[in-house]
Amino acid sequence: MTTSKKGQPASAADLAAGIAYNSNKPAEHGEAARTPPEGVHVAAGAPAATAGTASETQSSAKVGSGAPPLGVNPNDGNLDRVRSDAGGQRLTTNQGVPVGDNQNSLKAHLRGPTLMEDFILREKITHFDHERIPERIVHARGSAAHGYFEAYQDLGGITRAAPFAQAGKRTPVFVRFSTVAGERGSSDTARDVRGFAVKFYTDEGNWDLVGNNMPVFFIQDAMKFPDLVHSVKPEPHHGMPQAASAHDTFWDFTSLMPESMHMLMWTMSDRAIPRSYRMMQGFGVHTYRLVNADGASVFCKFHWQPVAGTHSLVWEESNKIMGADPDFHRRDLWEAIEAGAYPQWELGLQVFTEEEAEAFPFDVLDATKLVPEELVPVQLVGRMTLNRNPDNFFAETEQVAFCTAHVVPGIDFSNDPLLQGRIHSYVDTQISRLGGPNFHELPINAPVCPVHNNQRDGMHRQTVNRGRVSYEPNSLGGGCPFQAGAAGFTSLREQAVTEDKVRGKPELFADHYSQARLFWISQSPAEQAHIVGGFRFELSKVQVPAIRERMLSMLANVDATLAHGVASGLGIPVPPPQPLATALPLPQYAPSPALSLLARPGGQGVKTRQVAILIAPGVDGDGVEAIRAALLADGAVPHLLAGTLNPVRTAGGAMLAVEKTLENAPPVLFDAVAVPDGADAAEQLSRDALALDFVRQQYRHCKPLLAVGAGTALLGKAGIPPLLPDGSPDPSLIGTDPSDLADALAAFKTALAGHRAFQRETDPPLV
Ligand code: HEM
Repeated sequence: MTTSKKGQPASAADLAAGIAYNSNKPAEHGEAARTPPEGVHVAAGAPAATAGTASETQSSAKVGSGAPPLGVNPNDGNLDRVRSDAGGQRLTTNQGVPVGDNQNSLKAHLRGPTLMEDFILREKITHFDHERIPERIVHARGSAAHGYFEAYQDLGGITRAAPFAQAGKRTPVFVRFSTVAGERGSSDTARDVRGFAVKFYTDEGNWDLVGNNMPVFFIQDAMKFPDLVHSVKPEPHHGMPQAASAHDTFWDFTSLMPESMHMLMWTMSDRAIPRSYRMMQGFGVHTYRLVNADGASVFCKFHWQPVAGTHSLVWEESNKIMGADPDFHRRDLWEAIEAGAYPQWELGLQVFTEEEAEAFPFDVLDATKLVPEELVPVQLVGRMTLNRNPDNFFAETEQVAFCTAHVVPGIDFSNDPLLQGRIHSYVDTQISRLGGPNFHELPINAPVCPVHNNQRDGMHRQTVNRGRVSYEPNSLGGGCPFQAGAAGFTSLREQAVTEDKVRGKPELFADHYSQARLFWISQSPAEQAHIVGGFRFELSKVQVPAIRERMLSMLANVDATLAHGVASGLGIPVPPPQPLATALPLPQYAPSPALSLLARPGGQGVKTRQVAILIAPGVDGDGVEAIRAALLADGAVPHLLAGTLNPVRTAGGAMLAVEKTLENAPPVLFDAVAVPDGADAAEQLSRDALALDFVRQQYRHCKPLLAVGAGTALLGKAGIPPLLPDGSPDPSLIGTDPSDLADALAAFKTALAGHRAFQRETDPPLV
């Protein structure tokens, strides 16, 4: 036997001889199979022992150093290895040939036909012709960012999952937020569920927590997912409407699927029109399992709580933003990170045992049910910070591939039949979306920990695997890569199922309304009014009366006020409630305050909030500066707006640069407006319909308004009511004398930091 210095086998023959037989075989059977051992392996003493070719030590600029990278897969690891920059470099073709002329194609003569031989033109155009790839079948529209998750404590007692191994441990993440129904180019602020997908690059592999901004879902079984998506996507005959559920097929389907009632309450609420990705919660939705090193398991629901609080738009505002800035959420996320205002969420867990779950009045495997926080409190276990924008939207945001099947040791699935179907769906769709089975090698998808297996070949393979061995067990590769045994992923061993095979649902799944009612009774009056408005808007777009009526018959099972509110807007009486699907006694829930958006104002004050300061010639320059300074001091983002981009002369003769115009930056793009002092400026703005509309919309959308001195005239001219509809003072409508500006600014910032002034709302709106 040839041996290396350390006495290890130095040739393939010696390696093979080192494994006389597969001594692990007995452990594959019976009781022993519960604890799989590490695979039989021996270390090669020299590269030659595992080489596929004796010539691998030859070196060149292409084949490399000739020093084999034993045990290393350079496809794994950070993105530095693939980040490309052309600074100071000349232009080349994809073959590296320098391009002399990037302006002209090759022609027979100056006015002659283009020549077929122009390989430079053909390469450039061919590549361009294939730049687009299929968009995601759902969640096509999205935006993403890099960051990290930091654990608050060691959760080893309940899970061996790597991100929770010790307090302070940081795990890199890539997070993509999305809408569901719209195509890749659709508008950000459509009424829709938002995807909230987090890829944790852990040191034991990638874990993807692929969730939404709502804790429940429309359906209970994966079998119905294609039906749901077909119903909400643009109708197949004419391809309309884009990114909207307000059409017949969606309501036809959901009104025949009463299990969708709870989720419909969420999607008709303000949750479906978030102010920012940074200001929405995230939920894993399904019940998952956590498993500790001893193999003990608990159930778990995952929650992301935004540090910026939960804030939403109002429906008319989101509709207008779709025209004013279809990239509203994408821009908001990008700009916040560029400005260093890194979005953060705390990760919360609801942990409960199987026995506790059995006592709940709902089934934890039913994705249309949530676990009320009053039943199982949310325990905060870490914080996620998004601190880096991608370098390249396509390479990262578009090519990232999340998958519920991506779990790591310590995380396991429950038998939720929706989750079970998802485990299959993601990789399956990505094989066609990303062009073959090797998309895990795309840099954004590759783990930061080692990847070694015997999977080979396929479209677009990047890895150049050494050696002859692509099977296991083997002795020619010293048994490598070998199974990890107890260190590897092992599925939780659940109690054996002894019943018949069946297509069906557990009985508790048939309670379709109790939690829809729980959601309704947990909302503030303003949120309830918005839900009525949401249903009214959507159903008024439905053309077939029977579908409207069927939906109302479902709402009648949730709450009479809700059903009447919607029905009166549609001009039809409330029909009798739809028959229930179960005769079981139904739970009566007490309101859960945590389900209201108002429960989370957030702890960031006015940071990142966009404020318009309306100016015109004659404005009080000192006042403008004072407002700007006060907002900037607390991290808000003031913008000077005027009729045009012409610099504005202040009353004191100074010139102010204008940043945006009333024409190119409509009011819906701002969280608040300030009108400074200055009689001439106020007079001019009062004659401008865009300025009048600006303050009216700010008022109607319940945003804070600050008017100083003569600036208050603009509000009067616009017909802004000085008091709330009930006659009480409006704390978000702040008129002030210039001498009291400091106090007024403090009140303005308090209003801006909080939720909208919904007390202003009337139906229909007064202004
Ligand atoms: C059986 C039910 C479901 C099926 C079959 C399914 C299938 C899919 C598919 C095929 C994609 C596109 C993936 C890609 O092209 O990369 C997708 C994306 C997504 N799904 Fe589901 N889905 C289901 C339910 C859910 C549920 C319940 C949630 C939330 C908990 C969810 C959250 C997401 C998210 C966030 C994305 C976008 C991921 C990204 O940003 O790339 N899905 N889903």
